[in-house]
Parts: sequence; structure tokens; C-alpha cells
Amino acid sequence: MQGRLIAIEGCDGSGLSTQTRLLCEWLRSKNLEVLQTKEPTENFIGKTIRSVLRKEIVTDQKTLQLLFCADRGHHLESEIIPALNNGKTVVTDRYIMSTLAFGSIDVDMEWLKKLNEKFPKPDLTIIIDVPESVSIERIKKSRPNIELFEETEKLKKIRGNYKKLSVEFPNTVFIDGTKTVDEVSGDIKSAWKVHLA
Ligand SMILES: Nc1ncnc2c1ncn2[C@@H]1O[C@H](COP(=O)(O)OP(=O)(O)OP(=O)(O)O)[C@@H](O)[C@H]1O
Ligand SMILES: [Mg+2]
Repeated sequence: MQGRLIAIEGCDGSGLSTQTRLLCEWLRSKNLEVLQTKEPTENFIGKTIRSVLRKEIVTDQKTLQLLFCADRGHHLESEIIPALNNGKTVVTDRYIMSTLAFGSIDVDMEWLKKLNEKFPKPDLTIIIDVPESVSIERIKKSRPNIELFEETEKLKKIRGNYKKLSVEFPNTVFIDGTKTVDEVSGDIKSAWKVHLA
């Protein structure tokens, strides 16, 4: 039996890691076999991406987006597809929509869509939506010297992109991430019940 692919998406600090973990715990409690994973990955291409993001390696925006897609290709072939073929539910913290929402700030959206065309579409995409101010407050906890103005402008664009993408792609659910952790988790479980149970 083929497993299901669930992508958890949203701006930085929206609660992706928290909710990915909670969803996986809940699915396991229902006796489903689950692979919890994330992008960028921890493998060789993911590590290169992190070095670029930390400005240890300098490259242009198009090359960075190609790296994200190469990382996804490797992630799919080495982990996601084998798990799905074994009937596992795969929950990934970020996937194709992150490339579209973040990458299109600097490079052409249509080109990014083409690059991702051959990758399997998720059976369910959850977008956790929070206003820029909430993202910033939460990010501050892990990055106290955050560049406020620059970050706010960027988050505004990314949030707008997610909003547009949410109505463009099927099997996509837009969730209010300003509620408590338990409430957001409850809304994600409800989305799973509607779309995948
Ligand atoms: N619904 C919520 N209400 C209040 N605080 C939350 C909520 N969800 C997550 N948090 C807190 O916000 C911070 C960021 O959460 P988390 O790491 O899950 O977000 P993320 O989207 O994975 O962030 P990052 O972009 O850093 O990966 C953490 O301190 C977490 O405990
Ligand atoms: Mg995270």
C-alpha cells in the first residue's frame, strides 16, 4: 500500500517544527508508520544550502534555488519515495511550496514551478499562517540580533505568497497559527481527518 505525503509549510517561526513533531506523534499513536523529515535536509546538499544561508559560501539566488531543488530530488529518491513505497506516512517540515514562497522573492516563480514539476505533489499541504509580528517575536527567541525591518518586509512577501499559493494548489489547508499550540495541532488533525482518513 502506498503511503501519504504531508507537507507542513509557513513563514519562519510559524510553528512548523513544533507542529510537525506533534502530528507525527499523533499519527504514530494511531498505529501508522511515520517518517518525520525536513528540508533543507541534513545530507550533503542540505549542508551546502545551510553554508550559503550562513553566508560562509557566496552564490547567486538562482544557484541557491537549484540547490534547494537538488536537495529535494535527493531527499525524494533516498528517503521519501522509499518510505511511501513501504506504506509509511511521510511528514516533511517544508517542501515544494517553500521554494515557491521564499524563492520567488528573488527569482521567477514560473521557473521555480517548472523546476519542481516532476516532483510528487503532497497528498496534503498544511500552511500555518501567522502575522509578521508573531513570526518576529518567536524568531527573536532563537535569533536575538535579528534585522527587524529587513526581516519584517521579507516575511510580509512570503506570507502573501503562501496566501496566493494556498488557493492555487489542491489539497492545501490554510491554518491560523496564532492560536495555542494545542489548538493549531487540533486544526491540523482535523485537516488530516477530512483529507486523508
Ligand atoms: N501556537 C504557538 N503559540 C505560541 N508559541 C508557539 C506556537 N507554536 C510555536 N511556538 C513557539 O515559537 C517558537 C518557534 O516555533 P517552531 O520552532 O516550532 O517554529 P518553526 O516554524 O519551526 O521555526 P523556524 O523557522 O525557526 O524553524 C518556539 O519557541 C515555539 O515554542
Ligand atoms: Mg523549524
